[in-house]
Amino acid sequence: MSKTKVGIINVTGYAGVELARLLYQHPEVELTSVTGRSAAGQGLGEAFPHLASIDLIIEAELGEVDLAFSAMPHQASAKEVIPLLNHGIKVVDISADFRLKDATEYLHWYGFTHPAPQLLKQAVYGLTELYRSQVASAQLVANPGCYPTGAILALAPVVKAGLIEPDIIIDSKSGVSGAGRSLSQQTHFSEANEDATAYALDGHRHLPEIIQELKLLRPQQPLSITFVPHLIPMTRGILTTGYAPLASGKVSVDKKGREELFQLYLDFYKDEPFVRVVEFPPHTKHTWGNNLCLIHPTIDTRTGRLIVISSIDNLVKGAAGQAIQNMNLMLGIPEVTGLQALAIYP
Ligand SMILES: NC(=O)c1ccc[n+]([C@@H]2O[C@H](COP(=O)([O-])OP(=O)(O)OC[C@H]3O[C@@H](n4cnc5c(N)ncnc54)[C@H](OP(=O)(O)O)[C@@H]3O)[C@@H](O)[C@H]2O)c1
Repeated sequence: MSKTKVGIINVTGYAGVELARLLYQHPEVELTSVTGRSAAGQGLGEAFPHLASIDLIIEAELGEVDLAFSAMPHQASAKEVIPLLNHGIKVVDISADFRLKDATEYLHWYGFTHPAPQLLKQAVYGLTELYRSQVASAQLVANPGCYPTGAILALAPVVKAGLIEPDIIIDSKSGVSGAGRSLSQQTHFSEANEDATAYALDGHRHLPEIIQELKLLRPQQPLSITFVPHLIPMTRGILTTGYAPLASGKVSVDKKGREELFQLYLDFYKDEPFVRVVEFPPHTKHTWGNNLCLIHPTIDTRTGRLIVISSIDNLVKGAAGQAIQNMNLMLGIPEVTGLQALAIYP
């Protein structure tokens, strides 16, 4: 039987190039077409020597495929994706263009008027752990943002169970590849190396996505969320720590409460191939290059606060790996196919 043909729009960005690397090892699909504005006409291995085993020319337009990944920047992605959908092609969009359900949020957070608000209803938010059955039957999957992936997976069990007060603080640290391949002053080596800084204190673009998804888990509870991202000098990885006061009377603030909380997380993620609830604070190195999200929930028994820590690789579970996880479901193949690599250490 011939393999499903897949393509990547914008293979010249970090998410696109990581998709190509991971798809090369995928046994059930064939990468047949890749596009990239600045490298059109070049061999993929010429532009990216680590991908020299993939014999493809980077094109200006996507060739005929059954499923396309768009790894374009926001706004430009929707323009590419809409015609593909009209031709019946399945799409996993790695940009933010179909993640938010309310079209007015695009003007507010991304500064453009959404070109196809009707598609926002149709698009399935591709956090497989929450939307597995919807992803399987979707034509358009909006792959979650990197920060939202780590934050939502860390907080979903306690929000859904109503175990915390709705006053949540999310503190995330990201490696520099999260900002993409285009150079900016902030990501310049001599600025980012041996430096650490918080940014977007007035509201990061990933905040509405985090609020949208956590609210859907417990619609009756209004949520107040402060999200502070930080840029730190590493290439890949996001470490997120969530804090919230425990709702009174729901969990005991002691060792027994910690054990119950841990069991709640184990139960919530018991069938999830890519979420591991761990008994230690995870490191970003534990997920470096693989599709896992490691989560460590605990209780600060001095203050009665939940502390929950998650670790992901922003380019794998936070982008390309999660996109392939979604593709697998959309194509009816086992969800873990092509995604079982272990993390690289040290
Ligand atoms: N980086 C991450 O960790 C991450 C995680 C999750 C989601 N995402 C999302 O994935 C998408 C790609 O992100 P990235 O980090 O891979 O980006 P990136 O590395 O910054 O890629 C940007 C590249 O996109 C191309 N480009 C920019 N504007 C374009 C346009 N109007 N038309 C055609 N090409 C254009 C340029 O390539 P040329 O030089 O070839 O023109 C540019 O080098 C974004 O929507 C981002 O939000 C990224």
